[in-house]
Amino acid sequence: MYKCFLFLPSPLAFALVSEDVKKEARQSKNLEKSDISKKNDIDLKEIVFVIQSQSNSFHVKKAEQLKQSILKQSADLTQEMPTVLLLHQLAQQEGAWTILPLLPHFSVTYSRNSSWIFFCEEDTRIQIVQLLETLRRYDPSKEWFLGKALHDEESTIIHHYAFSENPTVFKYPDLAAGWALSIPLVNKLTKRLKSESLKSDFTIDLKHEIALYIWDGGDGLPLTPVPEFCTDIVGSSCATSFQSSLPLCGNPVKKEDIFVAVKTCKKFHGDRIPIVKQTWAGQAGHLEYYSDYADNSIPTVDLGIPNTDRGHCGKTFAILERFLNHSHDKIPWLVIVDDDTLISISRLRHLLSCYDTREPVFLGERYGYGLGTGGYSYVTGGGGMVFSKEAIRRLLASKCRCYSNDAPDDMVLGMCFSGLGIPVTHSPLFHQARPVDYPKDYLSHQVPVSFHKHWNIDPVKVYFTWLAPDEEDRARQQSRRGLREEL
Ligand SMILES: *[C@@H]1O[C@H](CO)[C@@H](O)[C@H](O)[C@H]1NC(C)=O
Ligand SMILES: *[C@@H]1O[C@H](CO)[C@@H](O)[C@H](O)[C@H]1NC(C)=O
Repeated sequence: MYKCFLFLPSPLAFALVSEDVKKEARQSKNLEKSDISKKNDIDLKEIVFVIQSQSNSFHVKKAEQLKQSILKQSADLTQEMPTVLLLHQLAQQEGAWTILPLLPHFSVTYSRNSSWIFFCEEDTRIQIVQLLETLRRYDPSKEWFLGKALHDEESTIIHHYAFSENPTVFKYPDLAAGWALSIPLVNKLTKRLKSESLKSDFTIDLKHEIALYIWDGGDGLPLTPVPEFCTDIVGSSCATSFQSSLPLCGNPVKKEDIFVAVKTCKKFHGDRIPIVKQTWAGQAGHLEYYSDYADNSIPTVDLGIPNTDRGHCGKTFAILERFLNHSHDKIPWLVIVDDDTLISISRLRHLLSCYDTREPVFLGERYGYGLGTGGYSYVTGGGGMVFSKEAIRRLLASKCRCYSNDAPDDMVLGMCFSGLGIPVTHSPLFHQARPVDYPKDYLSHQVPVSFHKHWNIDPVKVYFTWLAPDEEDRARQQSRRGLREEL
């Protein structure tokens, strides 16, 4: 995706840069004048930046670039550099990405010499001058939880239908815009974490779960919305923005290089398979339907595994074995989806261009199980699970298998890969639920790759609204917008 920047006509680039320089100059002048600024006169070195990075090489590269951008902008302002940490380097523990388990570490290490922990994603763009100015509005000796506020429009399964009477009341941060905790709040949360261990079994939507923890059923703190934390540059006062283009590194992966396996069973042949065919199946180079029943009109492949109502572990491992055993020698990627998954193969081809097929890649929407107490991360199956052949080879070379045919396949895979030291690579572009289950404001800065479930929606319409329409154009447009944000 960084290659895109080379294609920007340079007069435009200069125009944008000089506009930004003027803006910065204007804003630092305001900064001098402001009384509030003097009162909370924190220095850059009192901010600890934590980039929510991942260990896959593509993601490491992006996080390093953001770190350099923060350090370079800081060096232009001051001699005393802020601390910039990459989350994946901080701790080996599997649950580090859920942040809360790391708060004790932040409390011990930084509470003496820092005021804020500022978190951001690897695609967050930061204007250091504006960020400093924004944080100075808040007294760092008090407890603060700052972010760009999202709220549910309807109660949703991914939040366990929380606040179902009025889902709009509860605010949680859009992590893409960056978010911050003052040190007094970090210290308070640390005390709580020490006295009672984290209870929740599942980590599904981190941003909501962090906000719930901090809110503490009303005894804690709500999110304070900060208008300068942005995902899109609307006004000139944004301290942050988000690079929301679909990743593309070189050329999209060829469609012949992706094998798509659709898990189905006899009872869904009639209503779900026609929708797959009517929507995305035509984009796939290789696609097979795996069922408990051979139906030549589709056609389906009978894997010889009896259908199970709960999990599909037996079926999924049979698909993995078949992929390695048979044919597909030259096909580097396998994606396994449900028969009610809606996916854009064309966007997947863009995304996969950024990953190295020689590495064991296990990619999709990351969920966690029991991460407060060990546990593991996994790719939630409904949004689609993507594997490089190397990942499958290592998995099947191990002894790790289903404990029963009806075990949940995605969780068993997560457990196995975790045991093998192969991390889940998270992409928020895959979705375990339907578009209505996510805030519009959140989806507006995404080029989604998948959604899941037909319940109470028209799946064909959802596909054509969210996943199909001239995606190449949209991706290009988005990357141009992302690029303006970068500059
Ligand atoms: C604060 O202390 C930590 C731990 O000793 C250190 O790594 C960091 O550089 C210090 N920050 C500043 C601004 O001195
Ligand atoms: C794959 O090959 C192995 C070893 O030859 C065999 O035991 C297994 O049954 C095969 N699996 C499938 C699904 O073809």
